[in-house]
Amino acid sequence: MIEITIKRPDDWHVHLRDGAMMNAVLPYTARQFHRAIIMPNLNKPITTPRMANEYKKRILNSLEVHAENYEFMPLMTCYLTDETSGAIISEGFKGGHFFAAKLYPANATTNSSMGVTDIKKLSSVFSVMEQLGMPLLIHGEVSDSSIDIFDREYVFIKKILIPLIKEFPKLKIVLEHITTKEAVEFVRLNRKQVSATITAHHLIINRTSIFEGGINPHRYCLPIPKREVHRLSLREAATSGDLCFFLGTDTAPHRINDKESSCGCAGIFTAVNALELYTQVFEEEKALANFEKFASLNGSAFYGLKANEDKVILIKEKWHVPGLIPVSDGSSIIPYKAGETLDWKMKP
Ligand code: DOR
Ligand code: ZN
Repeated sequence: MIEITIKRPDDWHVHLRDGAMMNAVLPYTARQFHRAIIMPNLNKPITTPRMANEYKKRILNSLEVHAENYEFMPLMTCYLTDETSGAIISEGFKGGHFFAAKLYPANATTNSSMGVTDIKKLSSVFSVMEQLGMPLLIHGEVSDSSIDIFDREYVFIKKILIPLIKEFPKLKIVLEHITTKEAVEFVRLNRKQVSATITAHHLIINRTSIFEGGINPHRYCLPIPKREVHRLSLREAATSGDLCFFLGTDTAPHRINDKESSCGCAGIFTAVNALELYTQVFEEEKALANFEKFASLNGSAFYGLKANEDKVILIKEKWHVPGLIPVSDGSSIIPYKAGETLDWKMKP
């Protein structure tokens, strides 16, 4: 039997949501990963240390009830708005309530209407973060409707990110869920300051996949997958073992009715099979030897944390992804590759 053993990975970008939805999805993330950075874009975003603490308590309670066998550590983030102050950031980071802060350009994606309308409004916040050594996590897309949706990451890098790193050269940045070869090049060029997460789904689908045989709402996410040349560039970056790229699933559950709708939500739910999907990609790229770096070492090194001690084992064994994941309120979530067969399986 073919198997690989790696130190337990961490997921550096997760949407757990709240309430019944969180109870349904948390066990999947906690089964595969030890630590995870929890995104703050709830319906009411997490903007204060107190809100972060309360949300963390809800996560830990949910874990106790629904996933008691797993040791899981949520790392909380602050949702930046035009009103965020340096004092709040400083209090939250020094008190251990915020692990990082998340920048959503206003209206760039799900629950981002309270995001930042003009990055200049946050200069004093970035300056405080720079002094504290607090990481800034960025949804790197402009939200200007006059910019073509497929160009929004590239334009963000050019117009917003390049000036930002010049102005704050010590600010630690993660460009989240990158989707373009320009982002790969930008991160490599600025690796002293910037790292990037890469999702499993962006390594697997390109923009054509969304329309294969008809419109596939369960392959729709933001940033939107790009042309094949970009997918190939992401695969090269992830599987290179390069320190500046690491795992962040951006697993983003939505109820089935919100996906299969006349105006479907962006987000792909990969918590059920994330490690298996990544392993398949690394196998296809003949880079299984670099998988541990991407999944378990590079991210913790960036954040100045120790790698996990325990291990996970992935076996080459076929299994079927469930067709749907029930939520206790009567709704359900369709996971990525629902009903399909995967080649790799994480040992229970
Ligand atoms: O596809 C996405 N879904 N991209 C995001 O940036 C947000 C996420 C969500 O919260 O659903
Ligand atoms: Zn996300």
